[in-house]
Amino acid sequence: MYVCSCFGITEQQVREHAETGACTPRQIAGACKAGTDCGSCVRKIQALLGRGACPRREALDPVVLTTAATTAAAAASVPEPTAAEAA
Ligand code: FES
Repeated sequence: MYVCSCFGITEQQVREHAETGACTPRQIAGACKAGTDCGSCVRKIQALLGRGACPRREALDPVVLTTAATTAAAAASVPEPTAAEAA
């Protein structure tokens, strides 16, 4: 199915570019021009990239992922206040 009708780019082509390292709509545009004319396909490209089309996303941004995991672990370890403490 076509994602970008201006340049005739398919979902499969976007996924292939993602697999070779294009992990943002801008990088996809650099690889195949998708999103650089009318721009109406950019949200569709973002949605495709957000659904695991980019296997290298974790490798590109380990700090954000590490911080998010640390924050979630810290939040999970904070005990709930007792009824006496909450009152
Ligand atoms: S549909 Fe992709 S730039 Fe127009």
